[in-house]
Amino acid sequence: MTQPTIESILHEDRMFPPPEEFSAQAELKSLEEYRRLYQEAAANPEKFWADLADKELQWFQKWDKVLDWQPPFAKWFVGGKINISYNCLDRHLTTWRKNKAAIIWQGEPGDSRTLTYAQLHREVCQMANVIKQLGVKKGDVVGIYMPMIPEAAVAMLACARIGAPHTVIFGGFSAEALKDRLKDAEAKLVITADGGWRKDAIVPLKEQVDKALGDNAVPSVDNVLVVKRTGNKIHMEPGRDHWWQDLQANAKADCPAEPMDSEDMLFILYTSGTTGKPKGVVHTTGGYNLYTHVTTKWAFDLKDTDVYWCTADIGWITGHSYIVYGPLSNGATTVMYEGAPRSSNPGCMWDVVEKYGVTIFYTAPTAIRAFIKMGEHLPKARDLSSLRLLGTVGEPINPEAWMWYYRVIGSSKCPIVDTWWQTETGGFMITPLPGAIPTKPGSATLPFPGIIADVVDLEGNPVGDNEGGYLVIKHPWPSMMRTVYGDPDRFRRTYWEHIPPQDGKYLYFAGDGARRDKDGYFWVMGRVDDVINVSGHRLGTMEIESALVSHPAVAEAAVVGKPDDLRGEAIVAFVTLEDSYRASEQLEKELMQHVVGEIGALARPAEIRFSEDLPKTRSGKIMRRLLRNLAAGQEIAGDTSTLQDRGVLDKLRGGA
Ligand code: WT7
Repeated sequence: MTQPTIESILHEDRMFPPPEEFSAQAELKSLEEYRRLYQEAAANPEKFWADLADKELQWFQKWDKVLDWQPPFAKWFVGGKINISYNCLDRHLTTWRKNKAAIIWQGEPGDSRTLTYAQLHREVCQMANVIKQLGVKKGDVVGIYMPMIPEAAVAMLACARIGAPHTVIFGGFSAEALKDRLKDAEAKLVITADGGWRKDAIVPLKEQVDKALGDNAVPSVDNVLVVKRTGNKIHMEPGRDHWWQDLQANAKADCPAEPMDSEDMLFILYTSGTTGKPKGVVHTTGGYNLYTHVTTKWAFDLKDTDVYWCTADIGWITGHSYIVYGPLSNGATTVMYEGAPRSSNPGCMWDVVEKYGVTIFYTAPTAIRAFIKMGEHLPKARDLSSLRLLGTVGEPINPEAWMWYYRVIGSSKCPIVDTWWQTETGGFMITPLPGAIPTKPGSATLPFPGIIADVVDLEGNPVGDNEGGYLVIKHPWPSMMRTVYGDPDRFRRTYWEHIPPQDGKYLYFAGDGARRDKDGYFWVMGRVDDVINVSGHRLGTMEIESALVSHPAVAEAAVVGKPDDLRGEAIVAFVTLEDSYRASEQLEKELMQHVVGEIGALARPAEIRFSEDLPKTRSGKIMRRLLRNLAAGQEIAGDTSTLQDRGVLDKLRGGA
C-alpha cells in the first residue's frame, strides 16, 4: 500500500458560504443547525435513522430491531417489510405527483420522452409481469445491459418490484466482462437493447450479449429480453430472445409490489478491487432506500419544483442511487440523457440544461475538465439561469476546475456539493449540505449526519490536523454494502482487516487517503491501493494486468496510473514479452485492443512500454511505486535498496 501524499490543495483556503437566499429556503439553514443535527445523530445513530425511516418511507410492516451489528455484518430494520419500487412509484400516485414528470429523457439522435409517475408505474408493472412470465422468481438475479433509455430505469424498478435482484452491467463493458459478471451472479435473465446511441454511432449491445452467452457460456441464463431502440438489424435466438415491445403489448399494467424483507438483496453491482476479479457489491432493500432517499433530499436540497439531472450512467452506483432510486423515492423529476459531448455537438449538455430548465446539475470532475477544454463559449451561448445547485462526484476535484464550474456554469451563485462516497457506501458519506455548510474548492467538507468518519494511521490512531492518513468510517450506516456476493471472506479482508478495531469498534477502510483541516473539513486525496481512477471510472490494475497476460505475446505486465490533465489518471502498462515476440507499434496496438476486448474501452491503456524486465524486490514483488514514478516522468522517489537489479531501472528510463 502506498502512503497518501499531500498535494497543492494543502494551501487552498478559499471559503464560500452558502448564499443567503439559498439558505433561507433550505431544509438545513446554517452550520449551527448542521452541527446540532450531527451531534444528535452521532449520540444515537439508531434513533436518528429509525425516526427518518418512519417519517420518510412507507413500510408494509415496521421493523423489530433497527440495527443488528455482528461486525463486519450489519442488518438494518430487521423484520421490516418494504418495497423500494413501491416507495419510488405507488406512494406518489395517491398525491398530485401522479401526473408529475418522473423521468424526462433526452435521446441522442434528438428524440425525447417524458414519463409521469403514473406512466412510469404502468411501464414498470408491465415489465414486472413480463419478467415473471419469463420465469423469473423472487430471488432470481436479472442482468441489465442497457443504453441510457427510460427502459433501463424501468427494468431496475421492475426487478425491485418482484424481488429479483438486478445486476446492471455498464454498456461500455465488453462481452468478456459481461460474461464474467453474469456468470458470477448466476443471472437467469438478461435485459438489453438492440443498441444504444453513443456519439453519433450505435453501440452493438445485443451483439455483445450474444457473444457473452455463446457456447452456453452462462448456463443460468434462460432468456434475453430485448428493447428495440435503434432499429438496427440484430440476431434473435429462437426460444431465448424476446422483443420487449411485443411482450409489453399483452402485459397487464398492474403488478402488486412484493413485500420484501428489509435485508433482502436489492442489487449486486460489480466494482474493481485490488485483486484480479471484480467483486459483486451487495446492497439490500430497506437501509438503501432510506439512505439514498435522505441524502438526495438534503445534499441536493431537493424541492418539488426542481428539475434534477445527474449525468452518470445507470451502470454505475451514481446512476443507481442518484438517477433512479434516491430521486424517484423523493418524487422528483429526474433527467436521463443518452448522449455525450461529441464533435458534431460539443455543447449538447448545455442544450439539455436549457431545454428542460435543469435546476440541479450533478457531474464528474473529468467531465468538468473536458468542458473547460472545449471552451467557455459553449455554456455561455446557452441560457443556464435555471441552475441553482451544482454537484460533483467520482474523484478529487482540483480547485481550478471547481472555480471554473462555480464561475462559468453556476454564475457564481450556485453552491457546489462535492460528494465523497463509493459503490460500497451506497450513498453520500462526506458532502456539503448546501444551505448549511460553507464550501472550500477541493474539499468534500463534512460527514453526513449519522456518519462517523475519521482519518487514521495504519494502527487506527487518528492523525493530527492536515496530516495525511486513511479515511475510515467508524459506525455502520443503513446503505453500507452487506457483503461481496458469494465471498464474505473477501468482504472482511478487503474492508475490515487493514486497520485493527479501536476500543472494540470496527473501522470501515475505504481505500482512500485523506486529510482533515483545522475546521474538520475532509480533503480526499485518492486511492491508496492498486485501484486507479480513469475519467471517474474505477479500475483495478490487476484486472488490466490479467487481461494483458492473457495475450500469448505477454510474459509479464505491470499497470500503473499516471497523472492526466483530463482523465485524472491514465493507464500505463509495462510489459515484458515472451521470447518469440518482438516489440512493435503493431503489437502495441494489438495489446491495447486486446484489453478493450477483455474489459472494455474504458480500460484501454494510454501507453504500453515494452521492457526486458520489471523492477522487483528480492522476494519477487513488482515495485509499482518506481513504475509510477517512471510513468509520470518523475525522479525515482524514496528507497530503492530492496530492488533486486538496479540495472532494470536505468534500462526502463532509457527506453522511456
Ligand atoms: C472512489 C469510489 C461514488 C460514485 C462514483 C465512484 C473516488 C468518489 C469522490 C470525491 C474524491 C472521490 C474515491 C472513492 N471518489 N467521489 N467527491 N472526492 N474522491 O464510485 O467507482 O465506487 O469509486 O471514487 O477514490 O474511493 P466508485
